[in-house]
Amino acid sequence: MDPIQEIKNRLDIVELVSETVNLRKSGRSYTGFCPFHSNTRTPSFVVFPETQTWRCFGACAEGGDIFSYFMKRDGVEFREALVQLAARAGVQLEEPDPQKIARKNAQDHLVELLEAAAGYFHQLFLHAPQAQFAREYIDKRGFTAETIDTFRIGFALNSWNAARDHFLGQGYSEEDLIKVGLLTVNEEKGTRYDRFRNRLMIPIRDMQGRVVGFGARTLDPDGIPKYLNSPQNELFDKSNLLFGLDMARRHIREARQAVIVEGYMDVIMAWQAGFRNMVAQMGTALTPTQLNLLKRVTKRFVIALDADAAGVNATLRSLDVARKTLDREEELRFDPTGLIKEEGRLQADMRIVSMPPGEDPDSLIRQDPALFARRIEGAKPVVEYVIDVLSQETDLNDPKNKTQLAEKVIPLIRDVASPVEREHFWQLLARTLRVDDRALKQLYVPGERRPVVGERRSTKSSPPPKPTPQNRARSRGDGVKKIEENFLRECLIDPLLIRRINRMLSQEGQSIIHAEDFSSAVDRTLFVVLNQQQSLGVVASIEEIWDSLDALMQQRVQQLMQLSSTKQAEREKLPERLVHSVLDWRLRKANQLNDELKLLIREAKQEADVELVRNYTQQHAELTRQIYQVNRAKAAIKGISRRRS
Ligand code: GTP
Ligand code: MN
Repeated sequence: MDPIQEIKNRLDIVELVSETVNLRKSGRSYTGFCPFHSNTRTPSFVVFPETQTWRCFGACAEGGDIFSYFMKRDGVEFREALVQLAARAGVQLEEPDPQKIARKNAQDHLVELLEAAAGYFHQLFLHAPQAQFAREYIDKRGFTAETIDTFRIGFALNSWNAARDHFLGQGYSEEDLIKVGLLTVNEEKGTRYDRFRNRLMIPIRDMQGRVVGFGARTLDPDGIPKYLNSPQNELFDKSNLLFGLDMARRHIREARQAVIVEGYMDVIMAWQAGFRNMVAQMGTALTPTQLNLLKRVTKRFVIALDADAAGVNATLRSLDVARKTLDREEELRFDPTGLIKEEGRLQADMRIVSMPPGEDPDSLIRQDPALFARRIEGAKPVVEYVIDVLSQETDLNDPKNKTQLAEKVIPLIRDVASPVEREHFWQLLARTLRVDDRALKQLYVPGERRPVVGERRSTKSSPPPKPTPQNRARSRGDGVKKIEENFLRECLIDPLLIRRINRMLSQEGQSIIHAEDFSSAVDRTLFVVLNQQQSLGVVASIEEIWDSLDALMQQRVQQLMQLSSTKQAEREKLPERLVHSVLDWRLRKANQLNDELKLLIREAKQEADVELVRNYTQQHAELTRQIYQVNRAKAAIKGISRRRS
């Protein structure tokens, strides 16, 4: 068996967590104060023995298995956690299978070649007479000898076979050289020649610091392409790499923030000036994989763009049309929609800043490092940044421009995950355009997908609902809300409660709980999801359905989990108490409805609408019968619990 699974089978997460956290049994799960954020008010940390997982429903909003818990608790990497937990579990960490070893060896061989290549190009840069102009170029750009050494800046000779001959002489094969992209094959002519010629060589390393490829800059002002990268291969995948991350990682952790810039040269110059929490995205749009790499180190990102207003506009346009140019696979470098979605998904804080027109971080730092530092501090949330840039270049006295701007920004606002922030941006846009925010919220943007869950949109902006008795009662049912919330909270922790409560309700001739029992749309959806799982007989703690919930529902779950939980002593009586709550809220809703009905009947009588009077009176009679039955069920339940105690 796979050692990871073996360890999971042998160790109990509840036991491990209990070493440092005071856990209390709540239904089928355990709750306690989260060890990863300071909070002594609400036990928002839940351990699920069935799935052997944990989750903080509070500020961290994170979860995982026994490994992630151990890594977080002891601040170690996965490998270390594996070794330590294996020792505890008495699991022998066997050698990986021969195939894997072979693959690993083959990869090591290629990495070795790339390391050797980095050394080869670096030596040429330092000493080759042909590299004189490259040295002068680097010197003119203000890079020091130490920086050249740190980044192992290199030079590729202006030759079709210098690198090839060098490495063949070292015992590497042409196949190896092709695999790592040092040789290019011309299929038609059947020739193989050096890919990098007469270029400045910048080694690109992965997270572990292994050289996996090169960025090669032309030194000819008219040279095309400006940068030639290693081709995509097993080791080199630009969408999974961030230039400089291996060195910056430690500094990102310390600064609790990562600064993402566009170019190699920006990272290198910044490093030299002492800004060391920086990485470069190498000319492509930020990918989720890249953000995930960073997320392990920090959740605060600042994206420093070279581009000014024109760039933003271009990219907003290219959200629809991805343009292709020369060697650049993607022109799409700034994708606000993507960023906002990732921000929500990663629960991250993403900010944007652009450099002054015509500058990039490298040139700005050369001018004055303080200027750069101040820019970074002024970074703004994505939506705010876009509003800013767009409004600076538009004449907002023209109503047509206002609409245009609103249409660009509104889809971004609707993508913001946090309702509080979303509201903030509505207000900001309204202020900027000097219009009413309610009007904005109603604006239909062509081609936009409408949000699914009703509450994502402001209730203020939807048309007033028809005054049926139901929704009149609903708007008054604030007292019911509390009972409802408590009920849902307990069911989230222990979904099997639903079954027990349903059984008790049926025994008393009451209908089982259904979505309509809940007054808010999110709660109804949440209940449906929970109920579906438990009725299928699946072990379905909130943990298992978590990933299938949309951001809004996840937020609601977090909110509910912040409510104070039931005291241990009360737990045994919980099902009865919950049934009681259910009956109570049905009673209150029914009574409210009946009050409404009485009013409606009176109105209908005044208008002499016989049909309507009959209709309402029938409903009234039916409700009165229901109220009587609910009361009887309540009394019966009370009787049961009294007899029990
Ligand atoms: P300098 O002009 O030397 O200061 O380099 P830079 O890093 O500032 O380059 P620039 O701002 O033009 O581009 C930012 C990044 O995009 C570069 O670091 C490259 O990673 C990438 N890039 C730029 N031009 C090209 C190109 O022609 N091809 C490819 N593949 N990538 C490019
Ligand atoms: Mn530059």
